[in-house]
Amino acid sequence: MVQKVYVTRRVPEAGLTMVSKGCDAEIWEAETPVPRDVLLEKVADVEGLYCLLTEQVDEALLDAAPRLRVVSNYAVGYNNIDVAACTARGIPVGNTPGVLTDTTADFAFALLMSAARRVTEGVTYVQDGKWVTWGPKLLLGVDVYGATLGIVGFGRIGQAVARRARGFDMRVLAYDPYSVPQGLDPDLAQLVDLDTLLAESDFVSVHVPLTAETERFVGMREFAKMKPSAILINTARGPVVDPDALLSALVEGRIAGAALDVTEPEPLPFDHPLVTLPNCIVTPHIASASVATRNKMAVIAAENLLAGLEGSRLPHCVNPEVYGPRL
Ligand code: NAP
Ligand code: GLV
Ligand code: GLV
Repeated sequence: MVQKVYVTRRVPEAGLTMVSKGCDAEIWEAETPVPRDVLLEKVADVEGLYCLLTEQVDEALLDAAPRLRVVSNYAVGYNNIDVAACTARGIPVGNTPGVLTDTTADFAFALLMSAARRVTEGVTYVQDGKWVTWGPKLLLGVDVYGATLGIVGFGRIGQAVARRARGFDMRVLAYDPYSVPQGLDPDLAQLVDLDTLLAESDFVSVHVPLTAETERFVGMREFAKMKPSAILINTARGPVVDPDALLSALVEGRIAGAALDVTEPEPLPFDHPLVTLPNCIVTPHIASASVATRNKMAVIAAENLLAGLEGSRLPHCVNPEVYGPRL
């Protein structure tokens, strides 16, 4: 019998084709997220769920989906999923690590450079008809080359950002509390404690997953430790940074600027002060958004979904404990 799955948005065709061939797929066609009540109805008889970070997969959803056998998230981050609840019910959860690492690191670096060299302010200046002449002191920024970059969370994306920083002759500091990643090139970064990183960095770029421990990880205390000239870059998850503390740090000049691809809430209203402040750049959560990478993510998420439906191990599983201890 063909298995039923629900796909919560029209992801790139490369993935959808695989899903539609392998099972009876229903897709939420709108560009905005499926309303929660509709989602709860739709999952009532499905065995697979292919979802995005805009959907909360929690106890209530799992209760509403008694036949569910696999959850496949179209993202590497999976803070939208109650993984423990899925594990307790024997449901494997898939994500899309690796394929978006370099694309996301490119974008973090683009934000860093835009904030340092005031690219978006320059564009607005021209669009507003203010450009009348070449100015010796017009839109002066800070140099990227030779500066110190602090990377919080030295996993796949954090390390990819460090590799880019090398080409700019930057000094790279990294903070990652648990383990030194295996095979790490010792020249890539100097591993330091968080307070050293905050005190010495000209740019602080955040790459931790959102967990109970990392929620509000960067707040008042951390801004107080940073240089007044420092620029914060967040391409991880909005709630990792305390938005009220960030706003006051930017307004009061405790740090010089910020560039955010992720915010809390998401989306930020267009008239939110973080959107309108000249020293803050906000982009709409697009760090992994290259054509090639989004295609690869769609395929990996489809592979995870199909593996789960046929009872095989997911190629990228965030809760392998669901399979029991490895013999
Ligand atoms: P990753 O390889 O798992 O890297 C995350 C790193 O953060 C790991 O080294 C982890 O250490 C470390 N970490 C965990 N808790 C920490 C803490 N309290 N303090 C410091 N470091 C901590 O994941 P990734 O592929 O680089 O992705 C990172 C995150 O980026 C994702 O979870 C996602 O939220 C975000 N992301 C955003 C976009 C976007 O579009 N803006 C795109 C892709 C990813 P351990 O391994 O020891 O736990
Ligand atoms: C995007 O934010 C992801 O986690 O893949
Ligand atoms: C600027 O355009 C310069 O030539 O220095």
